[in-house]
Order: sequence, then C-alpha cells, then structure tokens
Amino acid sequence: MVIVKTIAEAQSACAQLRGEDRVLGLVPTMGALHEGHLSLVRAARAACDTVAASIFVNPTQFGPNEDFSKYPRTFDDDCALLERDGVDLIFAPTVEQMYPAGASTFVVVEGVSDRLDGASRPGHFRGVTTVVSKLFHITGPHKAFFGQKDAAQVAILRKMVRDLNFPLQLVVCPIVREADGLALSSRNRYLSAKEREHALVLHRALGKMEEVAASGERSSARLIEAAREILAQEPGVRVDYVAVVDPETLKDVFEVTDGALAAVAAFVGATRLIDNVLL
Ligand code: PAF
Repeated sequence: MVIVKTIAEAQSACAQLRGEDRVLGLVPTMGALHEGHLSLVRAARAACDTVAASIFVNPTQFGPNEDFSKYPRTFDDDCALLERDGVDLIFAPTVEQMYPAGASTFVVVEGVSDRLDGASRPGHFRGVTTVVSKLFHITGPHKAFFGQKDAAQVAILRKMVRDLNFPLQLVVCPIVREADGLALSSRNRYLSAKEREHALVLHRALGKMEEVAASGERSSARLIEAAREILAQEPGVRVDYVAVVDPETLKDVFEVTDGALAAVAAFVGATRLIDNVLL
C-alpha cells in the first residue's frame, strides 16, 4: 500500500492503478474509520481490481460553529485498517493541497442541497460536492463507494454525477449498525456512556416509523408524530428533524410510498447524529 499526500502523486499513482484496463474503486473518507467505512472498502475490493481511499477532513463542509478542529483524527490507525483490508493507495492531502490560497471555485447542486441536513447545516453540501468533485478529478475512479447512512449526501452526489457527467458509477452500501441498533458514525466517539444509551432512541424512532407504515398507515404526518413521541422520551435528546422524503429529491412526501426515506437527525448532548431507513 502506498500513501501519497500531493495531488500530483495521487494523479500518477491512480493512473498506474487504473493501468490499461483495471477497474479502480475510490472510497472517500474523513478518517476516524469504523466498520461502516471498512464495509465500503470491502465492497470496493469485491467489485474493483484496485482500490484507493482518501483521508481528508474537509474544512469546507463544516460550519463556523461545528466540530472541524475537534473532529477525530486517527491517521495511523486508519492506515493500518486500510492496509489490512487490501487498499492499494491512500490519498491524504493537506488542506493547502486541496484548497490553495485563492481557490474560489465551488460545486453546488442547487435545490436538493438545502434539504434535510442541508437545511440544518447551511453550506455543508457545497463543501461535500466540491471536495468529492476534486477527489473524482484527481483519482479518476470507475466506481466510488458511499454509505447509505448519509442518505442526503448520497442523493446529492448521485445528482452531481449525473448533472456533471462524471464517468463513474456511484455505489451505495447499507448502514452498518452496532448489535443494539446504533448506526456507526465517527461522531459516536464523542458520546459518553450515558449519551450512547440515549442515542439508541434514533433507531427506536425509525423502528416505530417502519412499524406504523407496515400497519398500513399512509400519512407521513402520522409516522413523524409517532417518531417524535419516541424521541421525546429521551430528555437528553434534541430533535433537529424527522422527515419522510423522496430519496432522490429529498422533498417531503405526504403519502408514504414504497421506498420513501424516513430520516432523523438529533443532538445527543452536543453531538449531532443522523440515521434513516427506506420504508
Ligand atoms: O461522508 C464523508 O465522510 C464525507 O462527507 C466525504 C464524502 C468523505 C467528503 O468529505
């Protein structure tokens, strides 16, 4: 496995990994890796001839009062896990490499970027689409792997790939959960033992939405109300949103249809967590 830090090195190493006719997979990450990320690596390994992963805590996707400076950075452990799971190349650029002084070009997927997490975190998805476009240009993958936990990110990146004609396939892998249902997230590291218990309410709320939908209820408002009742049982949890949306457009749906996305975001203490399920 090679680790490269500059864009020029990444471009030439990825060109070699692609060779004449090899399929290159890319797993973009911000590090602080967990089984969710590693499931993406394994999916990439299974579907591609060669695999590159990026580790870059992207400043442009954090708001001014968010956790950019304290976001967990576990570079050596991350590299060991990626090597163990068969990654060929790690691209770990500095902020100066990715955003040299004076850089002022951004990629914005209009409309959809302002919904769900985009509504709560203005500018977040502009940062995501900008850095992911750059990573796609630099590494030139045939397939790129993302987790369904970030359902809004997936919808926006799918649209970006389509709108900007990126010649690659976006592969979305299922949410990985702890045995008790907690969706894996790098931010789970921030939770105290008590908060971790409280955080399980997100999974319970989504379970309730599934249960209500399975009973034949078609009103999204009723599902949302049922989820909010569950979430209200944990006083340490402050709801950001509970929504039922179209998974492509992220627009609210009022009548639950098969494949609608039920999504929750909530603060557990100071930590904002998200989770979702396709109904
Ligand atoms: O999902 C993430 O970890 C990030 O948003 C991504 C896609 C690596 C871009 O920084």
